[in-house]
Amino acid sequence: MRQAGRYMADYRALRQRYTLLDICRTPDLAVAVTMQPVDVIEVDAAILFSDLLVPFTPMGLDFDFIKGEGPAIARPVRTAGDVDRLKSFEPREALPYVFETIRLLRRELVDLVPLIGFGGAPFTLAAYAIEGGPSTTYARTKAFMYAQPAAWHRLCDRFAAMMVDYLTAQVEAGVQALQIFDSWAGALGRADYREFAHPHTSRIFTELGKLGVPLVHFGVGTAAILSDLADAGGDVIGVDWRLPLDEAWSIVGMDRAIQGNLDPTLLLGPRQRLLTAADDVLRRAGGRPGHIFNLGHGILPNTPLELVQELAKQVHRFNL
Ligand code: CP3
Repeated sequence: MRQAGRYMADYRALRQRYTLLDICRTPDLAVAVTMQPVDVIEVDAAILFSDLLVPFTPMGLDFDFIKGEGPAIARPVRTAGDVDRLKSFEPREALPYVFETIRLLRRELVDLVPLIGFGGAPFTLAAYAIEGGPSTTYARTKAFMYAQPAAWHRLCDRFAAMMVDYLTAQVEAGVQALQIFDSWAGALGRADYREFAHPHTSRIFTELGKLGVPLVHFGVGTAAILSDLADAGGDVIGVDWRLPLDEAWSIVGMDRAIQGNLDPTLLLGPRQRLLTAADDVLRRAGGRPGHIFNLGHGILPNTPLELVQELAKQVHRFNL
């Protein structure tokens, strides 16, 4: 979850010379950036360097990253006609650099840590496609869902089918686990999640379940819909910091693993508050098997690297 990125000086140095998309599309650069945190932080896994929106381009949704604003899609999806114009693609032909990066990384990571691949859940991908960029209300997305439900479900079907192909190809290339980001699912109330997101997400998990790698299902602000989100699938459910970990785990069910859930803002300091909060997460996990310590969302750009390093050490040292 933004394990690599702007909080690292080595990454910022590379970004002086290359755009984010250049890095994603150049295997040697994507490998180098994936390895940056692995080399200096005691992490237990590497996450492929790419972006959630990389598969948008071959679907006919051109986009770029605008400095300080985030992603911007050139011609967002606004009508049923726009949905029908989206292209299908063969991931190995359209996005060869992603799979080449994975193959190179597996060689590089041998005997170090496993490699996690990732993709987006249909709701979050559809929200980007419709909004055209970040949003706080997801008003256009919800208006589209309510007013044009048939077109909405066609759009999500397209994203679900694409994700199954794309993530299958990631596993074939060598990733050892997959994380599905439904980052913005928390914008939905329970009934809407059930009607508009759950059917598409659960289809992805049913299909990907056949691949035999662990699947992590993550969303932000999901406290109100957590049991529904867990019901849609995932061997591991990723949660943010809004619920204490033990409460979240009892909602998810003890038969599943859980990932989380330190507030990434704590990494800005002070140090003692950070370390106490990390211990609290671990105490709530109670030493039960099936807890992956992680942040509740992505690391912030102005995070001091030293605190990230210290956090990882503290987690490894922890004894109940
Ligand atoms: O190291 C890693 O974690 C792997 C790389 C990774 C990136 N994006 C690189 C990136 C991963 C796993 C993602 C996933 C992603 N991308 C998500 C899902 C995770 C989440 O945060 O909920 C989403 C929603 C996106 C879309 C996206 N990409 C946004 C909204 C932004 C702008 C954010 C910002 O702070 O500017 C990006 C840009 C992006 N993707 C960066 C990185 C490291 C920022 C760095 C840069 O501009 O160079």
